[in-house]
Amino acid sequence: MIKPHGSDELNPRYVYDDAQRTALIAEAEGLPSLLLNSAAAANAVMLGGGYFNPLDGYMTLADALSVAENMTTSAGVFFPVPVLNMTDETGIEAGSRIALRDPNVEGNPVLAIMDVEGVESVSDEQIDFMAEKIFRTLDGDHPGVATFKSLGKTVLSGPIQVLNFSYFQADFPETFRTAVEIRNEIAERGWNKVVAFQTRNPMHRAHEELCRMAKDDLNADGILIHMLLGKLKPGDIPADVRDASIRKMVDVYFPENTVMITGYGFDMLYAGPREAVLHAVFRQNCGCTHLIVGRDHAGVGDYYGGFDAQTIFDEEVADDALELEIYKADHTAYSKKLNKVVMMRDAPDHAKEDFVLLSGTAVREMLGKGIAPPPEFSRPEVAKILSDYYQSLDS
Ligand code: ADX
Repeated sequence: MIKPHGSDELNPRYVYDDAQRTALIAEAEGLPSLLLNSAAAANAVMLGGGYFNPLDGYMTLADALSVAENMTTSAGVFFPVPVLNMTDETGIEAGSRIALRDPNVEGNPVLAIMDVEGVESVSDEQIDFMAEKIFRTLDGDHPGVATFKSLGKTVLSGPIQVLNFSYFQADFPETFRTAVEIRNEIAERGWNKVVAFQTRNPMHRAHEELCRMAKDDLNADGILIHMLLGKLKPGDIPADVRDASIRKMVDVYFPENTVMITGYGFDMLYAGPREAVLHAVFRQNCGCTHLIVGRDHAGVGDYYGGFDAQTIFDEEVADDALELEIYKADHTAYSKKLNKVVMMRDAPDHAKEDFVLLSGTAVREMLGKGIAPPPEFSRPEVAKILSDYYQSLDS
């Protein structure tokens, strides 16, 4: 089986031993505590589940700057984005042990315990430097930039021990999985070649066929549909609605035992190319051999070129940085001439009008009015679930 990134075995930071975890939960009640921001909490959940292997905690400022600049920590570990615990709280001392409280669960229970090794001030210039490298823009209208710049001016670094998986396990019991669980399930199924599909959206025909094409082209044993379950920008479709629509699509349109439907607890960064590389790291940690990267992967607005998230792998990721390979997909849509979904590069004789192309806004408007988009664009079963959601919003 494909090795995790950066080590022979996964090193999840969740404390699996029940007795040890119970003791840590008791210890945490007596420790000084810090209320995390959502980004730092999501980092803890990802560290807990083994997704950020081989990291064992939050990065130092030097590591974060180095990772922002060239995707490598000071110690030479390849990593695409800084994994930070930034705060504006004062009074936390290097050398202390603190309880990290969860901002996303009522009562702010302890999510993890941190051994604080470093407490460093970060300047506005350093924040801008990192933001510009990660997001390729400093535009405050970019949702990821806005969030990143609001996280705080102090970087707390050091290893963590994770005590739970925040709201994800309770809210998405069927779908939330750690990298450890996914890796184990892939092994149990006896799959060798596994292609991952990242998504933060419901899946329409193009996405469905993209998965099918990738599986067929690669002769893969299975598909891992792996959806983001954390925070999104306003207007994006909530995870439970997406989850229901994806489950329905797989149920009706995929052969049994060819698709695993799973999700991970992370807030969307909207970092386009850099986030695509991060996605590759955590799919390798899950045991997948391939990741589909299509058009405007992890993008938002017009901040990234349609295929920047593919070219970054050629231009900025060394050949030996990752074992997982990228399945590069071209813009995919239903061809009225061929009566099937195709990648545009495979239909060079087509004009724009030969495809069924609908904007996100147009689709949302139709669904809100209870009008189903054409079946070439969206499966009726999927459209029904989305339409019910939008109509409940509008009423
Ligand atoms: S993402 O932020 O999670 O990347 P989304 O759920 O929209 O957003 O996309 C999931 C994956 O499908 C990404 O790899 C994206 O590039 C790809 N994708 C989405 N729509 C298309 C399309 N029409 N053609 C090709 N690839 C697409």
